[in-house]
Formats: sequence, C-alpha cells, structure tokens
Amino acid sequence: MGFKEGFVWGTATASYQIEGGAFEDGKGLNVWDVCSKQPGFVKDGDHGDIACDHYHRYKEDVAIMKKMNLKAYRFSINWARVIPNGIGKINEKGLAYYSDLIDELIKNDIEPYVTMFHWDYPDELFKRGGWLNPDSPDWFAQYAKVLVEHFSDRVTHWMTLNEPQCFIGLGHKQGTHAPGLKLGDTYILQAAHNTLLAHGKAVQVIRQYSKQPCEVGFAPIGGPTCPAANNPKDIEAAKAVTFGCDKDNYIWANSFWMDPVFLGQYPEDGMKELEQWMPKIGSDDLKIISQPLDFFGMNTYQGGTVRYNEETKETQWVKKIAGYPRTAITWPVTPEALYWGPKFFYERYKLPIIMTENGMSNIDRIFIDGQVHDPVRIDFLTRYLTQLKRAATEGVDIKGYFQWSLLDNFEWGEGYNERFGLVYIDYKTGERIMKDSAYWYSDVVKSNGKNLSTEL
Ligand code: BGC
Repeated sequence: MGFKEGFVWGTATASYQIEGGAFEDGKGLNVWDVCSKQPGFVKDGDHGDIACDHYHRYKEDVAIMKKMNLKAYRFSINWARVIPNGIGKINEKGLAYYSDLIDELIKNDIEPYVTMFHWDYPDELFKRGGWLNPDSPDWFAQYAKVLVEHFSDRVTHWMTLNEPQCFIGLGHKQGTHAPGLKLGDTYILQAAHNTLLAHGKAVQVIRQYSKQPCEVGFAPIGGPTCPAANNPKDIEAAKAVTFGCDKDNYIWANSFWMDPVFLGQYPEDGMKELEQWMPKIGSDDLKIISQPLDFFGMNTYQGGTVRYNEETKETQWVKKIAGYPRTAITWPVTPEALYWGPKFFYERYKLPIIMTENGMSNIDRIFIDGQVHDPVRIDFLTRYLTQLKRAATEGVDIKGYFQWSLLDNFEWGEGYNERFGLVYIDYKTGERIMKDSAYWYSDVVKSNGKNLSTEL
C-alpha cells in the first residue's frame, strides 16, 4: 500500500535557474546568458548572472537538504561551464565544481540525480545552428561522454534532456525562451528530431562508458488529460486526448516526444498530418532514439479535463470555471493529474515512473515573525502527493518524487517573480529561509508518505 520501501524523495533544480557564477572560472556563455540581456526578453530585465548564487553557496544548500531528510537531489549540469564552446576543450574548473557538489551530496547521504541538459545551450554551438545542425546529436553525445567519464564513478542516475517541449516549443517556435526563435514547422521538426537523436546517442554513451551499473531516464513534460468522472467512457476519452497528436498541437503532444523514445516510432496520427514537414529520417534513427531506458521521468504540474458526451458522441473539454483554484503563475490546481498521468503513462510505456518535477509558485514573503508561512503550498503538495499515492496503491510502479524546487529561483521568462521553492531566497542578501513547506516535506520524507491519506 502506498509508497514502496526505498521510495526516492527529493527536490529538483536546474543549473541556469540557481547557479549564478555566469562569468566565473572559464565558463562559456549559453543562450540564456545572452537572451536574458535582450531588453524585454525576461520580466523586469532579470537574468541568471547571480541567481541563488548556488555556485558559491552549494555547501549551505546541501546542508539544508540534509536537514530536510532528502534522499536524493536532481540537478542539471551547465554544458558551457564544463565545455565552454560546447565541443572541444574541457574546462577543468567547471568539472571540479560539479565533482565537488557530487562529493558533498554523497557525504551527506543524498543521491545525485543528474540531468545533462536543462535548457542552457552553449552559445557557440547555437551560432553554428544549434539543434538544427545535423552534428548536434553528436555534440551532445560528446558532452555526455565527458560527464560519464568524470562522474559515473559516483553518479548512477542520469537523465538526458529536460522537457524538449519547452526548449523546442518555447525556444524555437514561440520565441519566448532562449534562443528566442520563431521558426516554421520544417525547422522545428528538424530540431526536434535532432534532440531525440541526441537523447538516444547520449543513452548509448552512458551505457558504454559508465563505470558502474546505472539507471537512465528521459524527463519530458508529462501532460495528462484527466477524465471528468471515473467511468470507462470518460477515461477512454481522456486517454485518447492524452496521447493524441496533430499538426497544431504536436509540440505539446505527449506521444510526439514519448512514442519515438519509448516505442520506437512517431505517432501515426501526427505523422499523417505532419508528413510534408518532417525531416528525412535515417534508417537507424528510431533505433537510436529508442534505446532501452530504466525509468520515465515525468514533469507534471497540471492537467486538462475532458468528458465524453453521450448525446453528441464527442469528447468535450471541461472548462475551468471562474474562481477555479490557481497558483501564483495562474496554473490551475489539478491534483488528479498525479493519479491519471502516472496511470496512463505506465499503461502505455510500461516503465517505472519517477516524478522528476512537481510543485507550485506562490506569493511567498517573510512574515512578521521572520518565518515564511506557505500553507497554500502545503495544501497543494498534500493534494498532489495523495493522488500519486493513490496511483502507487493501485499498482503503478512509481519509484520516486522530486519536488520542484529546492530553492526559489530564476523562473525563465518570468524572472524572479515566481517563487517555486521550499526554501525562500532573499535575493538581496542571498539568505535562505526554510519555508513551512520545507519542514512539512521533511516529515513526508521521514514517514515515506505514511502521513498522507489516499482519499481526498
Ligand atoms: C521546468 C522548470 C521550471 C518549472 C516551473 C518546468 O517546466 O523544467 O525549469 O522552472 O517547470 O515552470
């Protein structure tokens, strides 16, 4: 019942969002370093030059994780810190930084879960075409090899790419994320295919060069659509929407990114509509892309809802009515996404699931007593985790949960306006304050979620 013994409880972050140290110790520039300086690109002109200054304060942050009883920590590596030009010469100081962080985690019994790429693409490679360049999968594989050669003596959990939906969709189609491009479908599909190839090639490299047995996963957005009621017709309708792909939604379609990786084929429905824009697919490409994986990393914050209308025989979206609960960033609060999502994805892809991200932004501030009280976040996480526990109890193989995020941090285009952390950051002084939710979460971790019910 509930979460298995050995369930992995952690928090997640990403390099550009927390590290700072943007120009230190030989680090190269990445597309976020560059784009965030373009007027109007990020709210209030914010950027990640200093961010949470984790680059200098990581020991303090690991000590906080220890205090929170965390079993694991998911973080990403800033590619250009390790290889300033993206390929070629290695920056020893960059490697040393991550090596020290890994040692510090292990010293504190916290398992490192490493994401190889969380959106901070080396600017030098972008100038050579970035993900559009046919060599881009090999560039990524070379970088992956450097990481594995240096860290696999201590790291046994790897994720290749974080949310290609975002860095391709927001970064190359909508232009709201770095590198800020607004490309047509031919180019987007080419870039998307190259990122999938990059994933596959990196998995091959990890398997080939890891110094010890390890687990490898992929961390896309898992965007479930939930049934309005728990009846077969609504459930079938929700599943069909969750895995549907067409010309207009392919960037956000689960199956577009997941089917090639987990099933070795692009979704048929999407391909019918996208055929004329699809790049040439090499005979081995899908074999490379669909390397066997050990877990499916799901990043889930919300889900839509549909119902099957018996009269019209159509699937209908259920609208969120005025006053529907929302987080500070206005995303709807839909805890059931952590029940239906794992259920649907497990059924289709048959891989153990690790929730690699879930959390909320809140309007947090320091109260008159000097503490940060965030009952809204505790309520949110209780509801979501209860639904996850329900899925686990019904037999979905869920191995871990990483709350997003350890610290308040740079929320991409929203800058520092959105606070997702369990730990409050005073951006003027760098001071860290554990929010009430951080204390609450440490109890959840300690009790392995036993203090959460399965009925809400
Ligand atoms: C991303 C994070 C981001 C979070 C909240 C995810 O899409 O992986 O980098 O901060 O959601 O928006």
